[in-house]
Amino acid sequence: TELSHIRNFSIIAHIDHGKSTLADRLIQHTGGLSEREMSAQVLDNMDIEKERGITIKAQTVRLDYTAKDGQKYELNLMDTPGHVDFAYEVSRSLAACEGALLVVDAAQGVEAQTLANVYQSIEHDHEIVPVINKIDLPAADVDKVKAEIEEIIGLPADDAVLTSAKSGIGIAEVLESIVTRIPPPKGDRNAPLKAMLVDSWYDPYLGVVILVRVIDGAIRKGQQVKFMQAGTTHLIDRVGCMRPKIEILDEIGPGEVGFITAQIKEVAQTRVGDTITDAKRPAAEPLPGFKEVQPVVFCGLFPTDAADFEKLRESISKLRLNDASFSFEMETSAALGFGFRCGFLGLLHLEIIQERLSREYDLDLITTAPSVVYKLKLGRSKTEDAREMELHNPADMPDVNRIEEIQEPWIEATIYCPDEYLGSILKLCQDRRGIQKQLTYVGGRAQIVYELPLNEVVFDFYDRLKSISRGYASFDYHQIGHREGDLVKMSIMVNGDPVDALSMIVHRSTAEARGRGMCERLKDLIPRHLFKIPIQAAIGGKIIARETIAALRKDVTAKCYGGDITRKKKLLEKQKKGKARMREYGSVSIPQEAFIAALRMG
Ligand code: GTP
Repeated sequence: TELSHIRNFSIIAHIDHGKSTLADRLIQHTGGLSEREMSAQVLDNMDIEKERGITIKAQTVRLDYTAKDGQKYELNLMDTPGHVDFAYEVSRSLAACEGALLVVDAAQGVEAQTLANVYQSIEHDHEIVPVINKIDLPAADVDKVKAEIEEIIGLPADDAVLTSAKSGIGIAEVLESIVTRIPPPKGDRNAPLKAMLVDSWYDPYLGVVILVRVIDGAIRKGQQVKFMQAGTTHLIDRVGCMRPKIEILDEIGPGEVGFITAQIKEVAQTRVGDTITDAKRPAAEPLPGFKEVQPVVFCGLFPTDAADFEKLRESISKLRLNDASFSFEMETSAALGFGFRCGFLGLLHLEIIQERLSREYDLDLITTAPSVVYKLKLGRSKTEDAREMELHNPADMPDVNRIEEIQEPWIEATIYCPDEYLGSILKLCQDRRGIQKQLTYVGGRAQIVYELPLNEVVFDFYDRLKSISRGYASFDYHQIGHREGDLVKMSIMVNGDPVDALSMIVHRSTAEARGRGMCERLKDLIPRHLFKIPIQAAIGGKIIARETIAALRKDVTAKCYGGDITRKKKLLEKQKKGKARMREYGSVSIPQEAFIAALRMG
């Protein structure tokens, strides 16, 4: 297709504002989908995505559209992942487009998460077309939303397109404005091939499928290509596009978006943002903006039933086939047995993987407290020189005396909330060692910018934020680097033995409160034994909190189990089941539930 007849665009929207519904309507309107196929949402095709209302893996479609000028256009809609954890992937999808539709719910208005993506889109020099959706809702207030778009984002909203994606209103106008307002791509057909690897996923029939945006040159079947960042070469065996059904093409030309396959077995061999070039006639320079994605949140995943370890290994390996952005390595814990230390792009990413493991692979898992990546400066010891290290697991914390400095990652968070919740949200941020950077009011809502240690956010920040704002606050963040902190490793001891899975790295100022909370919870969670059990929290050798579980009186069992023999049998059976889920810890049996509950900071 001629460059002048191509348009590449993405849709920016806050969760639930109607991105998928609008995308499906665009596909339907241009003939890619029948009414019947329309009933099942196409772009959000995974169950978990549907339930959580988020898009995890980007999918892209090509639409054929005949515009009012009588010309035929090729419209490539790039789907972008909808969550902050996938900010880098979003940036690459945006880099592959020349414009974006900004979908804003007519009743909800502009949200924090939308902002982050809009700013990225502006940075990519995109032409942004505001689309005010859900105008059918009784609570829709188009003028107010227009004012917000102008005030908060700084985009003219006079000629915003008004739609109801649900009832099909305004769809033709959206298509027309894509053609008239978004510029065509630039590119040189005669230059050496230069294409960006935008996304990849594993398909059981095709193997690894790679989504590309060709900048210069063209990509064809049978071509030998080189991935410039990975340094590998591959033979292209298929090129095509999605409409959304797969269509095989002869080539993907300059300015176009499509997919390729090349007999690649694992997604881990492909890197988002890599530059694909011709192996024989390579481009001089790779495309700018490539970044190696690094996990930022780590936790241990252990099977509740030790016999499930192999199953867990297989399941994790399978998941990793399709998601190279999480890492895993084996870990052993005295308390939890064999498991894996896994790294994720963020908390939501962690939750998604954890949920898929338990749901799709039917695994009962224990997750240890999430930890961030600390940077440590170690002094010289008798056997070792001074050195720096990264710490992913509190259990690996070196001897306190050798640590000269600990640095923790910080983030800058933007929170948007209605006025009435402002006070409690400020308090939450303050309690989490936050530093307030900005507080402004726009359109009756407060916008708060805070710097926060990521360490304080991975605990239960989202949940707290959601509950104190009754779901009305929106949250967005990005990392701003490591800073020195007064951090210590807190250990939890049950009957004098440290329980490795419960140790964590905390700020000294919050250690006591955390320690006390943990001891109190464990006191209620660990059943009584025939002897007294002390539960202690300690920093180094110093005890900072203590609780004691009183000894069980011997006649208690006799009293409650006495009498009815069938009832007694039932109870014994129940007990047996319960036993299987216990961990013997020293001389103390701790039920699995106790770990899980204790790890869930509350
Ligand atoms: P994510 O994929 O989670 O980012 O959400 P989304 O932005 O794709 O939203 P989605 O299209 O799934 O729509 C969210 C909800 O809003 C769904 O229940 C839709 O049926 C509904 N919805 C979408 N467009 C409209 C509209 O124009 N009017 C009304 N009343 N509801 C709509």
